[in-house]
Amino acid sequence: MPNNRERLESLLRPGTAPGESGAGFLDLLGEIPQAGPPTGLAQRLMRTSAVPMIYERYWRPTLGRVAKGLNGPSMADEVRIAVEALGLRPGQVVLDVACGTGRFTRAFGEAVGPDGLSIGLDGSVTMLDKALAAPSPASVTYLRADAVDLPLGESTVDAVCCFAALHMFADPDAALDSFARALKPGGSVVMLTSARHGDQPRKLADTVLGRLSGQRMFDRGEVATKLTRRGFDQVEERYSGVTQIVTGELPVNIRP
Ligand SMILES: C[S@@+](CC[C@H](N)C(=O)[O-])C[C@H]1O[C@@H](n2cnc3c(N)ncnc32)[C@H](O)[C@@H]1O
Repeated sequence: MPNNRERLESLLRPGTAPGESGAGFLDLLGEIPQAGPPTGLAQRLMRTSAVPMIYERYWRPTLGRVAKGLNGPSMADEVRIAVEALGLRPGQVVLDVACGTGRFTRAFGEAVGPDGLSIGLDGSVTMLDKALAAPSPASVTYLRADAVDLPLGESTVDAVCCFAALHMFADPDAALDSFARALKPGGSVVMLTSARHGDQPRKLADTVLGRLSGQRMFDRGEVATKLTRRGFDQVEERYSGVTQIVTGELPVNIRP
């Protein structure tokens, strides 16, 4: 029976350079400090050693609450929503893109059970170090790579999650292409990202602050349309504050 690392390596795109595994995760970026082109302050903070230390307990819940509003889902709700939206079953392979400290990766690991594989992918060494320090189900493994150009082969994963990250990628469209390519026909995606209030004029946060922090504001409906254009169906959106959770499924006959 192959171990998690061997299973992960068997899912990589043919021709992927071997990578390093001394740090406890498979590292495809090596000395490169930043996954993909840098986009701004938010991405840089994720590579410090301070933010990962406080990320899961304080940083993410606090900023998440501000973005989602008082009536938005709690962190526990977010995890439950993601697991349910992906319809995870024992034995499946799930990819948690931009996993940070692995909160969702661990929950997915429980859902897919010991015969499944829950891959947490992130570009930040300090985030992945923190993820590795947490007790995790046996099905969890971590990968350091660029979320915008996933190193996974075509049709290799049953489900993709990407929470709180699409809006900070240099090229969200390329990332979505990558997600669709890695998913098996019939596979599911769930994402939490930014969403501009439809009835509000563009705010300073959308422009100057947005550019400085490297985070973009998607329009309402924009991410759903992007999924539909890539062949996803059953696309659904739910909005809270300036966030949206978007889900979709690739048809079983998407590839001949
Ligand atoms: C705000 S955190 C989200 C973590 C987790 N998904 C959550 O919902 O709490 C964003 C993560 O995206 C990662 N990230 C940003 N750009 C990336 C890229 N191009 N490739 C891989 N990871 C990236 C950062 O390192 C950071 O861990």
